[in-house]
Formats: sequence, C-alpha cells, structure tokens
Amino acid sequence: MEKLYGLLGYPVGHSMSPSMHNKAFEDLKVAARYMAFEVEPQNLQNAVEAIRSLQLGGCNVTIPHKVEVMNYLDEIDEEALEIGAVNTIVREGNKLIGYNTDGRGYLQSLLEVLTGELSEKQVAIIGAGGAARAVVTALKNNHTKRIVVANRTIEKAEQLLNRLHSPVSLLEAQEIKTVESNLEQFDIVINTTSVGMSPQVEQTPICLDKLSNKSIVSDLIYNPIKTKFLTEAEAKGATILNGVGMFVNQGALSFEYWTKQSPNRKLMTKTVLQQLG
Ligand code: ATR
Repeated sequence: MEKLYGLLGYPVGHSMSPSMHNKAFEDLKVAARYMAFEVEPQNLQNAVEAIRSLQLGGCNVTIPHKVEVMNYLDEIDEEALEIGAVNTIVREGNKLIGYNTDGRGYLQSLLEVLTGELSEKQVAIIGAGGAARAVVTALKNNHTKRIVVANRTIEKAEQLLNRLHSPVSLLEAQEIKTVESNLEQFDIVINTTSVGMSPQVEQTPICLDKLSNKSIVSDLIYNPIKTKFLTEAEAKGATILNGVGMFVNQGALSFEYWTKQSPNRKLMTKTVLQQLG
C-alpha cells in the first residue's frame, strides 16, 4: 500500500513541496504520495491526530503552524526545541516526533558555496523571526566564529539570542545601521526577512555599500530567485546564494527522516526551479 505524507499549512496553494517530494519518491521507487493539506488554525490539533488515525508516515509543517504544532506532539527533538519550531513530524508507531530541518537545510546549501571553515567566519544575520532562529541555531551549533543578528526591532534580536541554549560570547545583537557601517568585517551576510520577496521586489533589507567582494551574500527568499539584494551583491563581486537550496535541503532532510533514504537533491532542485519558472 502507498504511504501518505503531507504538508500542514494555511494557505498551501502555492507550495512546491508536493511536486518536489513526489518526484523524489518516484525517482527512488518509494511507494508513497505527498499531499498539501490546508489546515485552518482552529483545526490543527485534529489534523495532527489524523496523522495517527490515518497512519500517515509523517508531515511537514509550515506557516502558521510551526510553533503551535509543538503542543500536540509526543516528543520534540532538541534542535527543534532550541529553534522553538517544528517543520517535520515523523510517525513512529503511534508516536509523533517533531524535528526542525530548516537550519540544517540552510547550512547544507551554504556549505555548497563556502570556502574555508565556519569556525573562521563572521556572519551577519538580518532579521530575528522564525527563519532567523533556525539559521542562527544551525550556525552556532556548527561552531561559527562570530554571529551578529541585526533587526529593525533590536529587542527582538536580543530576545532571539537570549533564548538560545548554550549561548556563546560570539553572538550579539546590533542595530542594522551598525552592521551596515561595518559590513566589510563580515564573511557571510544573510537576509532572513521577507524584504524583497515578490511582489515587493524593489526593496532591500540593508545597504551594501561597504560590502567586501570576498563575502557571501545569501537571501532565504526564492521568489524571485534573484532578489534585488542579491543582484546588488553580485554587482559588488560577492558570491550569492538564493533560498532554493535551503528549501530543497530542508525537504530532503525531512525525506531522509521518513524513508531512511537519501533523495536526489539535483532532481528536487530541478523540479523546484521548473515550478518557479
Ligand atoms: P519568519 O518566520 O519568516 O522569519 P517572522 O517571524 O514574521 O517571519 O519574522 C519576520 C522578520 O522580518 C522580522 O525580523 C521582521 O522585523 P521586525 O522584528 O522588526 O518586525 C523582519 N521584517 C519584516 N518586514 C520587514 C520590513 N519591511 N523591514 C525590515 N524588517 C522586516
């Protein structure tokens, strides 16, 4: 019998996860289907119980359910607890276990363009929401030399750092202006905000005047594939990284939890790029 996997979100109409996962299942000849389920917030608990009763293999969880869903699971992995959100549910027997693959998915995409070691790199993160929490946690847990979080509302950047388990002294919150004026210090600059996302494609999160051409500039946004922020960074000679790799890798890591098999990430990327047009 085919095994069923799904996405719990609201809305889910434009999600690229079903085609990406179904292509990977097909490629590995896994008898499984992945479907998007539109779950209104008041129905989340019932939807999670349906994973058990309908015996789904597992689910991805997306906006707006990533935090709330933690209340309905049997176990939550330590990294997901630290991020404070779950994007992957695995059913083991009657038990539902929550994981978060966003941070590691990001890290895998970063490592594809990184030269040298994270332990030598200074990183500026713009934004202090859920996506920033996942990225900061993964970078910190992989021994990044220094992480500065800058946000429009600096208090939110401070809160993000305070809630991390085992904070290290090389984490700090700064004003966006401060980061902009010291930008040449940073080896990696990451936009985790939605600034520049379609349809507001003319906006950029920070000014790149002082950017070093040796840096990597990364945007978690994948629609558009190349934001104005990345276009400006490329014009300054930096290496750029869009959000497609993070999206593919977070999905691939979920797939690995569910099937214990490694999916073809190149094929998944191709499927996503086709959908983005
Ligand atoms: P996500 O889960 O995608 O990270 P989020 O938790 O809502 O989303 O966080 C959005 C982040 O983008 C926040 O850091 C937010 O800044 P504030 O904390 O100051 O609100 C940032 N953000 C969103 N729109 C922005 C804008 N127009 N200018 C600057 N920052 C913005």
